[in-house]
Amino acid sequence: MINVAVIGYGYWGPNLVRNFLSAGCHVKTVVDMNENRLFALKKAYPFIESSMDIDSTLADTQIDAVAIALPVTLHYPIVKKALLAGKHVVVEKPMTKSAATSRELIDIALREKKVLMCDHTFLYTGAVRKISQLIKDEQLGSIEYFDSVRINLGLFQSDINVIWDLAPHDISILNYIMEKSPTSIVATGLSHTGNDMEDIAYLTMLYDDNFIAHASVSWVSPVKIRKVLIGGTKNMVVYDDIEPTEKIKIYDSGYRIKSDEDQKKMRIDYRTGDIFIPKIDTTEALSGMVTDFMQAIDKGRKPVSDAELSLSVVTILEAAEKSIKNHGKEVKL
Ligand SMILES: NC(=O)c1ccc[n+]([C@@H]2O[C@H](COP(=O)([O-])OP(=O)(O)OC[C@H]3O[C@@H](n4cnc5c(N)ncnc54)[C@H](O)[C@@H]3O)[C@@H](O)[C@H]2O)c1
Repeated sequence: MINVAVIGYGYWGPNLVRNFLSAGCHVKTVVDMNENRLFALKKAYPFIESSMDIDSTLADTQIDAVAIALPVTLHYPIVKKALLAGKHVVVEKPMTKSAATSRELIDIALREKKVLMCDHTFLYTGAVRKISQLIKDEQLGSIEYFDSVRINLGLFQSDINVIWDLAPHDISILNYIMEKSPTSIVATGLSHTGNDMEDIAYLTMLYDDNFIAHASVSWVSPVKIRKVLIGGTKNMVVYDDIEPTEKIKIYDSGYRIKSDEDQKKMRIDYRTGDIFIPKIDTTEALSGMVTDFMQAIDKGRKPVSDAELSLSVVTILEAAEKSIKNHGKEVKL
């Protein structure tokens, strides 16, 4: 049995603890510097050791693996310490705040022969896996665009802006299903709080082919929207994560360009056909993530949300932030 420590028991940490326990792992220790959080832990799980000290937990030789759910700016130093202490690591998204630090952690993990992955939870949802399969099976045709909206009111973060908080979800989904990287990024955003931390942002990812991707993220929207539109030449997909069951709808809709020789102008034929709602796996995504982490440790299998994919997400986020700070200047990758 693998002994696990969960570091950070704020909003997301309890979800990790619950899923590690249901996967049959031994959660030996949970670390948080906030007494109230450790009190909540003791109430829910009296059999788990609590600690306020990350270093002593990492020095515990009985612990094989750690899951890190700390504020983003602590990811790099704590993941590095954990890997150097000989632990396998799963860290919450985004892996770190720069491509250079993510690359450094990947190199350390390789050298130490430890698993390093990042919890891009959406890659383990039935919906995203279904979309990936539809694209692989060429049921959508050639993909022309990916357009996502992830907006709600709050939660303002103190150490990161909205792109580092929300866009990792959209970019990890994009990179996973498309299996290619953009060549440049154009992004704009604004902070309304006077602290230079953007609370609303628009990211455009440009590619060297006929595909474009866009993500809109916001903490200042009156409504919560979690929607992705994917346009293919055969079919189009609407993925609405707020929908309880019918998360994916496949539209047999599209257009065809007909050149009109006489009038020398373009004519478009539109097609609006049936809408198909596929059945998707509703297993909790985090349980898939935990199983993936365990199998990577046990069997040496490459995780779905592996460190290289996580680095590609950080690379895009970093470029987007640079573009925002330069008023939407295109940043080449
Ligand atoms: N995968 C997802 O869908 C998802 C969802 C939410 C959050 N997250 C990620 O989880 C991570 C944590 O986010 P959160 O919303 O739980 O934040 P949070 O602020 O609610 O929790 C962080 C916890 O870390 C503790 N902490 C901070 N510094 C510490 C230190 N030096 N030593 C020990 N404990 C310390 C805090 O007391 C707090 O309880 C972030 O990386 C975030 O992006 C992921």
